[in-house]
This record gives sequence, C-alpha cells and structure tokens, in this order.
Amino acid sequence: MDKIIITFDAEDTPNFDISLNSKPINFQIDSNNIIIDHSVLFGLNLLEITLLQGSEVILTDLTLNGVSNRQTLYLSYYENPDTSSTWITEQHPTLVVPFGNPMSWWLAECAKKIPNTYYGSNLYEKFDIFYGRSISIDETFPRLLQDFMKYNFGFHVNEKNNEILHNKSLPWVKINLEYDEQRLLEEFLSNIELLENNYYTPKQNRYAKHKKDPDLALWEVAMAIHSDQDKSIIEFQEQDLPHFFKLIHQIESMGIEIIHAFIGTVYPNSYVAPHADDFYKNSSQYEGTPGCSQFFIPVGWKDNNYFKFDNVGFLPYEQGAYLVNNSDFMHGSINNSDAVRFTIGIYCRFTEENIQTLIAL
Ligand SMILES: [Fe+2]
Repeated sequence: MDKIIITFDAEDTPNFDISLNSKPINFQIDSNNIIIDHSVLFGLNLLEITLLQGSEVILTDLTLNGVSNRQTLYLSYYENPDTSSTWITEQHPTLVVPFGNPMSWWLAECAKKIPNTYYGSNLYEKFDIFYGRSISIDETFPRLLQDFMKYNFGFHVNEKNNEILHNKSLPWVKINLEYDEQRLLEEFLSNIELLENNYYTPKQNRYAKHKKDPDLALWEVAMAIHSDQDKSIIEFQEQDLPHFFKLIHQIESMGIEIIHAFIGTVYPNSYVAPHADDFYKNSSQYEGTPGCSQFFIPVGWKDNNYFKFDNVGFLPYEQGAYLVNNSDFMHGSINNSDAVRFTIGIYCRFTEENIQTLIAL
C-alpha cells in the first residue's frame, strides 16, 4: 500500500471526487490534507481531482510515501485546451495531476524533459506534453501486451514551435485526408484471403509462423507497393482493390513520393507486439525520411482497439487519418473488439509543401 498526501489551501470546506488512472478511489480529508491509501503503479500515474463542493482550492504539495513532488506539481493541468494550473475552481473543476512512482525516478524524468526555469509558467502553451493512460486488458493477451498497456515509464514533450517535416520528436500529426472508409472496409473484407496470402511476413511474426501455433492469431501485413533497387513493385491488381488504389493515386496526385504501402489486418483478440520500425535508419531507399513519414489510415476500427506509442499514449484513431512516426517511437496495438480491423500504411518521402497541403486540406 502506498500513501499519497495532497496539501491544499481553501477558504471554505471543500469536497472532491478523486480518481487514480481513471478509477475512482477512496480518500480522507484531514484539515488541509487529502490522504489516499492506495497502491500506486510503477512509473507514471495520473490523479484526477474534481471539486464537488467549495469555490476555490489551491494545491500546494503532493507527497508519495513521504517524498514531495515539489515543483513538478506545476505539471498539473485542466483540459480543453490543456492549461497549467494548481487551482481548482468552479470554472475549471477538474485538475489532472501527473506524478510518478518512485518519486526519485519521477523527479529525474521531469528534469530530463522540462527545463527547470519553465516551471510556474504555462508549460502546455510551450510544449505538447503527452501522458500515456494506463489500461488493464484481458489476460488472454500475452503478458508483454498487458504490461505495455498498463505501465508508462515516462512521458513525452515536444516543443510546439518545432517543424513537422522530419521532426523526430513528434509522434503523430493529424491530417485532413478524405477517404471512403466504408467502401475500403467492404473491399478488404471481401479480399481477406488475398490480403493474407502475401509474400511478406513482419519480422516479429516469422518465428511464430514457422512454429505454426494455431492459438496465435497473428497480424498480417499485405505489402502492396515496395521497391527493389529503385524499381517500384506493385503486388496487387488494381481491379482487385480499386478503392485502395484510388487512394494511392489521390496521394500521388498531391506530388507525394510513395516508398512503400501496405494493408495491415488485425483480428479480434489479436495484437501487434511492441516494436519500432527503423526504415530510415538502415536503408538508402529510406534516406531522408525521419519523423512522421507514414500515413496511418484506420479502416473499420471499432471501440476497444488500442494503438499505443511508448511514453506518448494512445493514438486517437477515431478522429481519422494521421501521419505517424513509427521509427522513433516504439508502438504496439491490440484488437479487443469483435471485428477484424485494417490499417493502410503508406510510407513516403515528404516535402514541406506536401505536409502543408495535408494539414490545410
Ligand atoms: Fe510498426
């Protein structure tokens, strides 16, 4: 059992709702202290405090097992838009307080990510700060995936004024891309065998496939476009996947150079083990493509799918297409829904103009 004590200032006698990592928890109030006896995850934790009664509360300290989080309390924020604050008011009744366990690790992590002198100003105006949320997934998933979804050993900071093109510190960027998800879904479902019987097997699946373990539902990657010694090779007939190729031509017509394109298939109760793709680091074909260089186009993703970037959190796929940085950020995903889902991945060599067009479309 761990002990969290939050000290506050208030004019009146406030009352709160408190949750830890999205789960409501019990607490006691003793004069100006909120006392929580609860087990705390290793790594990052997110405490959410909502003011139910009272006009204004100012948080002044948080200790975990007697160790103060000192200035990192200034990472506390309210949402929409994320704004640094240690005040809980009627206008902004919910405050999120990130902290870590053990506190010594947390203080070191914060010192690495945020310059000391910035505390006390609105950190969320200067930085995009990403915190992974902890979720518990079914024990039918491998322990590796359970732990990957549960723990967050860090958080991620990107300076807002950094460019998008070739920015290795940016995990993803939302783009405005028109695509007919329903038609693509129908097309992929009716060609599911074609998508499975592809020459390409992701490295992480090769051993398992060789073993032919029938209990392992692996994800499939149908590599549709790739190149071999500067020659572009197309694996499928356009008439078999007309909507997919329409999307490819739409992207090419924007002057974007495609290096490879694939369709990933993940069945219910299946997963993609955490990994990083290091295309641009290894191969001359991919030279000059660091950063968010891959289209991520979700097709048929129902609720209870999770695509997590290490230290960053869950990609909000329900909002549509993104450019993602799969090379610099480890990522893994599960399908805990009842429907097969697909992802179109298109890896490109972008220019500044391409990026501006995709964001402004
Ligand atoms: Fe990947």
